[in-house]
Amino acid sequence: MEPQAFGDEHTRRKLETVEKYLVAYTTALKKQGFELWYIDACAGSGASIPRSALASPNSQNGLGLLETDDSILDADQIIVGSAIRALGINTPFDRYLFNDVKKSNVDALKAQVQKNFSHLGNRVSITQFDANKMLCDMCDRINWRSSRAVVFIDPFGLQIRYSTLQRLAQTKAIDLWYLVPVFAMYRQIRGDGAVLEDGGKSVDEALGTDAWRHVVAIEEKGQIDLFGQQQVISKRAVDVAWFEKVAKDRLKLAFDDRVVDQVLPLGRNGLHEFSLMFAWANPSDKAKLAAKLARAVLT
Ligand SMILES: C[S@@+](CC[C@H](N)C(=O)[O-])C[C@H]1O[C@@H](n2cnc3c(N)ncnc32)[C@H](O)[C@@H]1O
Repeated sequence: MEPQAFGDEHTRRKLETVEKYLVAYTTALKKQGFELWYIDACAGSGASIPRSALASPNSQNGLGLLETDDSILDADQIIVGSAIRALGINTPFDRYLFNDVKKSNVDALKAQVQKNFSHLGNRVSITQFDANKMLCDMCDRINWRSSRAVVFIDPFGLQIRYSTLQRLAQTKAIDLWYLVPVFAMYRQIRGDGAVLEDGGKSVDEALGTDAWRHVVAIEEKGQIDLFGQQQVISKRAVDVAWFEKVAKDRLKLAFDDRVVDQVLPLGRNGLHEFSLMFAWANPSDKAKLAAKLARAVLT
């Protein structure tokens, strides 16, 4: 196994939440006659190891251990990834689509599927694309009259475009778990309120609007200078929680209000780096069950 080095306890919490939903979802929908898909757009390698474990006294040379001899790793420290969890549930999905932009992750995941889930091998496709491309292609290709899907988007940062979320919503058949990188949005604004050039564009794309730029800075009256002029000081006027609210409102706009209000704040050492959000695309009354299941796993 080749675990990636990221995450911590919050990673485990995130994955357990989504896994519980997958169990409830396939159980609830198994007799409804739909082809059920699990689609993991940033699937990783199949496992990760907390950074804290790499810094532990038992780790002799940090990352090198992962690359050379995985038997040295303490099995308890390895966090089983989203793709492997999805394959391991009791009532499996009919189809699995795993994707990651990184070749080494795709190769590691393929090896794991072959080794441990060969009985599900003919249900699994593993691709190496940008998540936006993969998701939009998948929306075009799948017959949404006869299929239903859970999509999990678990990026490191601001990789996902708002237009992709809109595309997912248009299927009217997808339940979405999206790990929204709220801290990455916030850190594109400097203390003086100025928006970083490249990072700001990524936030525009992630939120599908640049309206946020007009409210992230305020000007305050400063001291009187030597010439008797009042100085004006500009500073950042928003925090991470504000970005969480904006991101949720944008998701609501894409999904016609079908977003669970409850979110799971996640991050290392108590830092609010991400917010795990749930949205469901199907407008029918019956599909409100999705929100009920999501609320249950979020509590
Ligand atoms: C937080 S990890 C995902 C972990 C995975 N869900 C798991 O449980 O192990 C984020 C993953 O996104 C991948 N990634 C980064 N940018 C991407 C992109 N534009 N498209 C697809 N995958 C991307 C990274 O290679 C990394 O494996």
